[in-house]
Amino acid sequence: MSEYDIAEIAGDGIGPEVTAEAMKVLDAAAEIFGFKLRKTVYPFGTDHYLATEEIFPDKAFEEVKGMNAVFLGAIGDPRVPVGLIEYGIIAKLRFELDLYVNLRPIKLHDARLCPIKGKTIEDVDMIIVRENTEGAYAGMHGFVHKNQPLEVSTQTMVYTREGVERVIRYAFDIAKTRPRKQITLVDKANAVRAQDLWTRTFAEVATEYPDIKTEHAYIDAACMWMIKNPEWFDVAVTPNLFGDIITDLGAVVQGGMGIAASGNIHPGKVSLFEPIHGSAPKHAGKGVASPVAAIIASSMMLDYLGEKVAAKTIEDSIIDLLRSGKLRGVSTGEHPTGEVGDMVVEAIREMAAKVAQ
Ligand code: IPM
Ligand code: MG
Repeated sequence: MSEYDIAEIAGDGIGPEVTAEAMKVLDAAAEIFGFKLRKTVYPFGTDHYLATEEIFPDKAFEEVKGMNAVFLGAIGDPRVPVGLIEYGIIAKLRFELDLYVNLRPIKLHDARLCPIKGKTIEDVDMIIVRENTEGAYAGMHGFVHKNQPLEVSTQTMVYTREGVERVIRYAFDIAKTRPRKQITLVDKANAVRAQDLWTRTFAEVATEYPDIKTEHAYIDAACMWMIKNPEWFDVAVTPNLFGDIITDLGAVVQGGMGIAASGNIHPGKVSLFEPIHGSAPKHAGKGVASPVAAIIASSMMLDYLGEKVAAKTIEDSIIDLLRSGKLRGVSTGEHPTGEVGDMVVEAIREMAAKVAQ
């Protein structure tokens, strides 16, 4: 029996509620499909910080490095300085584990979830590959003359040849596995001239993939097309900040933050899976948040770990529940949070039983 070590960090706000549902589904999947998850639960997040002043201690971080995957609920809380917990937990994991790919599939599972008139499930099926360790997030920022009239603040976008090339190559490799075999580079190289490195590297890597059709879009136009013509996208690769922004837009096109999930990946190494949504403090503790995004993130985690059948069954069961209308939607308040995990567990049990017959 395959066994995996998983770090579970439920985090802030609605994080613990949605994580509990994802864990319900993971536990059932492990039982049904015959693998074992050895979970270590970590209390990190804003409450823990406020109680202990600890954000992510070295000892725990060392433990996590030896695991197979991390599941994260959500991070962020207005009671502490902006960015403190984000940089201390999410960014620390992304940078120090070198999780250079942020994989964000945008797939419409049921046409009624799409807010754009006339779009079908065939029109919205893309994968955004967001670079995850460089760009505007690299942390090179500073202030001089702080709080003085002549204050200067800077933040440098950082791109390295190696960092750009490896994520572009990863995106091409995904495009190769998809029927449309198309990849779009999304950048702003006409204004952010440093992104010329992206332009050149993309063109060079493309020569190794003669079967893949390449496209290019500037980020502003890509935002427009994401709404007007989402069917134009198959795989897209983009720098960190643009990837952050366009995947929130993409999330809306697929039905909202209640369904959008992501994997922060370093192929072959411990990787991190999380819903794209934030901690939504105003909804916390009420049992109204949609855990579907967290459940899909758990399915992405299983896929990454190699539990392909379990991963696909979880995703298929969500698709079934949505298309049959049993799952009325993925917006806040549509279902009690605790009901959704139960529905998915029941659906995967039924699906697995059918296959076994
Ligand atoms: C995301 C989030 C994070 C980001 C925040 C919480 C730092 O918005 O994962 O998309 O900007 O990367
Ligand atoms: Mg974001």
